[in-house]
Amino acid sequence: MTKKFKIAVIPGDGVGKEVVAEGIKVLDHLAQESNGKFEFEYDHYPWGCEYYLEHGKMISDDGVEKMRDYDAIYFGAVGFPGVPDHVSLWGLRLAICQGLDQWANIRPVEFLPGVPRRITHPDADNLNWILIRENSEGEYSGIGGRNFDGRGEGKEVAVQTSLFTEKGCERIIRFAFETARTRKRKKVTSVTKSNAQQYGMVLWDEVFERVSREYPDVETDQWLVDAMAAQFVMHPEELEVVVASNLFADILSDLGSALSGSLGIASSANLNPEGRTPSMFESVHGSAPDIAGKGIANPIGTIDSASLMLDHLGLEEEAKALHEAIRATTGKGILTRDIGGNYDTEDVTGAIIENLSVVT
Ligand code: NAI
Ligand code: MG
Repeated sequence: MTKKFKIAVIPGDGVGKEVVAEGIKVLDHLAQESNGKFEFEYDHYPWGCEYYLEHGKMISDDGVEKMRDYDAIYFGAVGFPGVPDHVSLWGLRLAICQGLDQWANIRPVEFLPGVPRRITHPDADNLNWILIRENSEGEYSGIGGRNFDGRGEGKEVAVQTSLFTEKGCERIIRFAFETARTRKRKKVTSVTKSNAQQYGMVLWDEVFERVSREYPDVETDQWLVDAMAAQFVMHPEELEVVVASNLFADILSDLGSALSGSLGIASSANLNPEGRTPSMFESVHGSAPDIAGKGIANPIGTIDSASLMLDHLGLEEEAKALHEAIRATTGKGILTRDIGGNYDTEDVTGAIIENLSVVT
């Protein structure tokens, strides 16, 4: 019997629309070639900055609740000039991640063949690590306020509070240890700034030490975030699973993807690991207004996020095949401009689909 997966598609803004369309082409190809094993049923949602300009909100009132009916959410990017970034991000992406308690954000950093990297490590081809980002609280708890609301009187005060709960720290740290157990080296690196942030991040460190005692088979390491930024560049071979707070992992993942070539190739998954709500798959990059509408965006981050989605849906073989097809494509030098090539978005997708036929 054919397995049907219901996917909510939210292309969002800017290049988000372009790269999600490419991802769907690849998913359709896989479904077609599956000989009836599975198919995807998509519902497209127009939420984003254009929707906001028309309706005064980034998502419909019942939008987050509607998402619960799906097996997964495939997301582009949100944000465009004309709508303040904090309005668009909180109104759509964070509304979904936090509303559906997608508390684990997984961001692999991989050095793809043929992609010029910004790191001179002798064994760069074999480097890959995975960032595990706390995705429900921390610096993005949204707690705070402002007085005088920007009246320009020079008296403004703003408070932005980070929230660290023992439960929130424990579940993401435990998730990192479980992830490490599935990997070769079995090592977890925890990143905080607990010398300066003496409450929340000290709690994180304490929970890390407590949970680590339950995983004697996993090697551990603890770093301050500033030193970790340097470590990413100087000793990437020391990294395998890196777990950090919402803000720190956000920053470090952009650094990681830039080192591996470009923001355009980085994939991610926002997971509710208990499976109570659907998970959401999206590239790490934003809506890239500087290149939007030109057909030159790199689709790999979003297509590789579809591979994470396939894996999550239990289509492990197809996920692997897609990832290999991406590697084969970059290996042959089919690259967009951000990674030193001259190919357009659609050329890269076409090559990935062609390589899929070879690997499947
Ligand atoms: P960005 O990731 O959109 O762009 C940063 C740089 O990377 C730009 O030079 C852009 O051209 C390049 N780039 C990004 N994606 C690319 C791709 N697929 N192919 C080739 N080059 C690519 O970040 P920026 O400029 O800080 O933010 C733009 C908008 O995106 C803002 O409104 C921001 O709030 C939003 N944003 C949304 C995110 C999301 O929806 N998850 C994440 C990050 C930013
Ligand atoms: Mg980011």
